[in-house]
Amino acid sequence: MREAEIAVEGVSFGYEKGRKILKELSFQASGTENIGLIGENGVGKSTLLKLLVGLYPEFTGTIRIGGMPVEKKNLAKIRSQIGYVFQDSDSQLFCASVDEDVAFAPRNYGLPEAEVERRVERALAMTGTLHLRDRKNYSLSGGEKKLVAIAGILSMSPDILLMDEPSAALDPKNRRRLIGILHELPQLKIIASHDMDLILDTCSRTLLMADGRIVRDGATEEILRDGELLEAHGLELPLRLQGQIEIMSGKMRTDIL
Ligand SMILES: Nc1ncnc2c1ncn2[C@@H]1O[C@H](COP(=O)(O)OP(=O)(O)O)[C@@H](O)[C@H]1O
Ligand SMILES: [Mg+2]
Repeated sequence: MREAEIAVEGVSFGYEKGRKILKELSFQASGTENIGLIGENGVGKSTLLKLLVGLYPEFTGTIRIGGMPVEKKNLAKIRSQIGYVFQDSDSQLFCASVDEDVAFAPRNYGLPEAEVERRVERALAMTGTLHLRDRKNYSLSGGEKKLVAIAGILSMSPDILLMDEPSAALDPKNRRRLIGILHELPQLKIIASHDMDLILDTCSRTLLMADGRIVRDGATEEILRDGELLEAHGLELPLRLQGQIEIMSGKMRTDIL
């Protein structure tokens, strides 16, 4: 695999004039780590991920993926290296069947049919969806759609994966499967989510966004245990840690009694 690298420097962007969503935002990532992207609703997490894959080219500052600036002439190459899993799987799946959807990108890229077949099988196997191969997309559950959408991205063997609220439509079984997939896949990943437990379970590093910038960048274990910091940004401790704290305070009370 090539060295995966994301370099964002002084990026500002707004959808409308006079209303900036990102303000001189900077961060860097490389290697194979899983990075959580957290922050209040509407802070710009999805916007940032979309900018990384060149969906909105009219930003200022620089974004480089694998050393290549995100600009029109590089987009085809960049999109073969960086896969973006949309929050809404229906925006991602546009063929009639699972098989066609997962084959779409490698086929469109002009790979030989035998290679397309190999990639489809591997991507479906990695996401545990081989049994869905001949199904029509409309007949899938929300969780199945999400896993098939991930398979569609994996079929291009990207070096970098961006996932926007990947656990949002998943039942507990598929959520566990997603967590397993996130642990197993070797890519550099950025996972935007308000599911703090998912981030705690899968990401070694976390970026906290506020006011158009990354205001904290560090070990997930530290950031997600900092109740005051999270509360100040409209977030809550992961449920798993809330439980621990309640159990601890329960113990303390019995100690006092
Ligand atoms: N296509 C769009 N046009 C105009 N405003 C948008 C668009 N998409 C998002 N926004 C606005 O940009 C801000 C950031 O949104 P978003 O990136 O979706 O935040 P998050 O993913 O952190 O919840 C919000 O105020 C949202 O309403
Ligand atoms: Mg979002």
